[in-house]
Amino acid sequence: MTPPAATSAPFDVARVRADFPILRRKVRGKPLVYLDNAATTQKPQAVLDALTHYYTDINANVHRGVHELSGLATDAYEGAREKIRAFFNARSVQEIVYTRNATESINLVAYAFVRPALAAGDEVLITAMEHHSNIVPWQLVCEERGARLRVAPIDDRGALILDELDRLIGPQTKIVSVAHMSNALGTINPVAEIVAMAHARGVPVLIDGSQAAYHMPVDVQALGCDFYAATGHKLYGPTGIGVLVARAERLEAMPPFLGGGDMIRSVTFERSTWNDLPYKFEAGTPNIAGAIGLGAAIDYIQAVGRDAIAAHEQELLRYGTGLLESIPGVRLIGTAPVKSSILSFVMEGIHPHDIGTIVDREGVAVRTGHHCAQPVMDRFGIPATARASLAMYNTREDLDALARALGKVREVFS
Ligand SMILES: Cc1ncc(COP(=O)(O)O)c(C=O)c1O
Repeated sequence: MTPPAATSAPFDVARVRADFPILRRKVRGKPLVYLDNAATTQKPQAVLDALTHYYTDINANVHRGVHELSGLATDAYEGAREKIRAFFNARSVQEIVYTRNATESINLVAYAFVRPALAAGDEVLITAMEHHSNIVPWQLVCEERGARLRVAPIDDRGALILDELDRLIGPQTKIVSVAHMSNALGTINPVAEIVAMAHARGVPVLIDGSQAAYHMPVDVQALGCDFYAATGHKLYGPTGIGVLVARAERLEAMPPFLGGGDMIRSVTFERSTWNDLPYKFEAGTPNIAGAIGLGAAIDYIQAVGRDAIAAHEQELLRYGTGLLESIPGVRLIGTAPVKSSILSFVMEGIHPHDIGTIVDREGVAVRTGHHCAQPVMDRFGIPATARASLAMYNTREDLDALARALGKVREVFS
């Protein structure tokens, strides 16, 4: 297996880029400028190698075999769990539950933790900047139980109004569930403060870390949260693998989410008993390759250095913000004082879909639409935005290419 080529400081973006084979391809005859990282990131060679190695050399089911290959596969699969534990600084591997993605992690908490205790009149508190994944599961359980979904508002720059969130936490609140970082606006929420506010009133907190986890260091013990949801494909890993990082005492107290093989200790027709953590929440054959690939992605991120990645992306965000603000007719949506890696914008008189289509002809990949955050669009009174989102391999040249492509958009519509 190829070890990660990049090493910690100094950050060398050319060297990082060389580790991502897809960045060498052309799109529509132009070099690929990939600025759709908030949707999914590209994969370094080390991740591709880890997937190939699993399927080529050690493919077997985990936990069930005494044979050599099953042992190797189990070691690699559980080894990845330890890497994930260290990455988030969870207390033990028992606190790392593999899921399919962040959406499943949030659903697991909604259905196995909140739903059993939710009664009519209870409340679930989220914010106005949530992704649909952190809205719809709560709506479903609230509707079923006659509970109420409360929403903490955001201001005109896209920052959470913390006093309002504080005010909305009451004796009826069963959970506070907030994004660490907004995918539509880039806002970074003061999650440690939010946890402290909620815990002061005995309310547990879930943090949706889908965006934050690949842009900045995350330490769940320092944050003090009860649950932290993350998704592998944004962390430079494969699709179909995610994690729920959860305090063991919470998981111990919860019933299983899905039933099946591996999550049981014993089964009779009369009753079954549950496996130890975290397996109680991992029914059926898991995404073994995905977990191993995510482990390789985490090795890669650690080798590059999370602080170095964050600093590089902050510099790019500053540069890109200046660039876009200098283009007549462009308006940034999401200008919170604390934000990361997202440049969401509209252009006067031009539908975002047209922006996306025209810049694509120049090889520039951005996302257009509501970004699975329709209430955010409603808040700003727009149907959609164009969104350029950054990752560790992006450069100032990528942003220059975007600005040039936006010039073409302007020409087409002038
Ligand atoms: C903030 C946020 N939450 C949740 C998700 C859902 O991630 P997944 O679709 O991988 O479950 C996303 C994905 O875009 C996101 O940006």
